[in-house]
Amino acid sequence: MIRFILNQQSVATERPPGSTVLDFVRYHKRLAGTKIGCREGDCGACTVLVGDFENGRLVYRSMTSCLMPLANAHGKHIVTVEGINGATLTPVQQAMADTNGTQCGFCTIGFVMSFTGFALQNGDHTPQKAIAAIDGNICRCTGYKSIERAAQKISRHLQENTQSNHLDWLVEQGFVPAYFSDIETRLNTLTETFPPVSEPIGALRIGGGTDLLVQKPETVRHAGLQPLFDDSSLRKIEVLDGRLHIGASVTVTQFAENEYVRRAFPELDKIIKLVSSTPIRNMATVAGNLVNASPIGDMSVFFLALNATLTLHSGGERRQIPLKDFFQAYKKTALQPGEIIEKISFMPPPAGSFFNFEKVCKRTHLDIASVNTACQLKLAPDGTIAEAHLSAGGIWPFPKYLEKTSAFLKGKKPTEALWAETEQILQTEIAPISDVRGSEAYKRLLLSKLFLAHLMEYTQP
Ligand SMILES: Cc1cc2nc3c(=O)[nH]c(=O)nc-3n(C[C@H](O)[C@H](O)[C@H](O)COP(=O)(O)OP(=O)(O)OC[C@H]3O[C@@H](n4cnc5c(N)ncnc54)[C@H](O)[C@@H]3O)c2cc1C
Ligand code: FES
Ligand code: FES
Repeated sequence: MIRFILNQQSVATERPPGSTVLDFVRYHKRLAGTKIGCREGDCGACTVLVGDFENGRLVYRSMTSCLMPLANAHGKHIVTVEGINGATLTPVQQAMADTNGTQCGFCTIGFVMSFTGFALQNGDHTPQKAIAAIDGNICRCTGYKSIERAAQKISRHLQENTQSNHLDWLVEQGFVPAYFSDIETRLNTLTETFPPVSEPIGALRIGGGTDLLVQKPETVRHAGLQPLFDDSSLRKIEVLDGRLHIGASVTVTQFAENEYVRRAFPELDKIIKLVSSTPIRNMATVAGNLVNASPIGDMSVFFLALNATLTLHSGGERRQIPLKDFFQAYKKTALQPGEIIEKISFMPPPAGSFFNFEKVCKRTHLDIASVNTACQLKLAPDGTIAEAHLSAGGIWPFPKYLEKTSAFLKGKKPTEALWAETEQILQTEIAPISDVRGSEAYKRLLLSKLFLAHLMEYTQP
């Protein structure tokens, strides 16, 4: 039985765990405010808020309900627009109306939910962050400027709060209804364990669902599922023996917000905003990105340049494998039947070393790369390169650790002549194909230029 709170109502359902939250709210609960646009996570028309405990605190995140398996709603608070509507417009809805942020209205509810999720967050409510919160919402009518004005208005209103209890203030101001104040207590009573801790071998493992529900929604709907998203043993981020260990079901957002991770990668915000969009990052797990084995997987390329190791787990047995050996052929990994990724481990780049990630795609948000690449350089006290790890995507059938290039750099002094020579070697170990993301020649050129971008970041940080 899947139990959760939908707006104000407690829900218990035996509908398929692999069916979507979108279909549940629209067709089963007749809450038609949540719209269907693309069903692929691209448009944001189906955005809902999902309240869940993170480190003991109730946190609301925006998610695209078209890609959210019902299993992942268990134990949470799912909020559709009907759950924030009151007798008058909320300040978010009012700001959208006042600034002409809505025309045909099809996208509007998605924007309202994303802005409301932004309002529910603690921390700074700057206009820049308000605009970033709608990076997963597309509008075909307004041209966005009016929505940006709404973002500024909402941000100004939120910055007026001086109360320590942010939720109380939001209720007082009408951003969310008063019943939100009881949700924490109500969620604590949803104690029934779900998902089941173990499922028979052969059950389809699912993390956030952002790949599986795009690629094979019907299979997911009818499959026996092993939901991994809420498995607490897979959601930890720890530092042990100086290494960072990232649980398989940690989402990209949780990874980016973690204090240890942020300390290790001071430029992380710049990198992470290139990965999908806020609602997708809120659902997408790090392991899902690796197992999908897409040739341009951003997190795969990121972890390859960290020379990361995976811990694989099956029936109490564990084994470790370098990430660079995990990818074997197009969409083929070293994962054995019944095995799951338990965690991803790596040594954080030490102080004084260099780490950078670059990605080129057709638009900044919600687009996959034509080519992406990451680079880590560790310098010895004498100024030579003690360790180099380069990776790239879009130039091979799977995310590639650039073995020859990395080995070539080791032990050498960084000079312009070395970079020129390295670029030549780089070209010998890639084999891009011409496709919709660019021709072979374009991708070769792109990787050379992105290699230069790494160097520019390195020499002129
Ligand atoms: C609109 C949109 C934009 C996107 N943009 C980007 C982008 O910019 N960059 C990018 O890299 N990706 C992007 N993606 C792809 C996707 O979001 C990521 O690959 C994501 O990390 C997948 O994680 P998930 O948890 O949602 O995977 P799921 O769909 O849940 O699972 C993917 C695969 O991983 C397996 N799996 C999951 N967890 C485990 C585990 N612990 N052990 C073993 N197997 C496991 C599943 O069985 C499945 O085969 C985008 C997707 C969408 C829909
Ligand atoms: S319907 Fe387009 S993101 Fe869900
Ligand atoms: S108002 Fe029509 S799509 Fe945004």
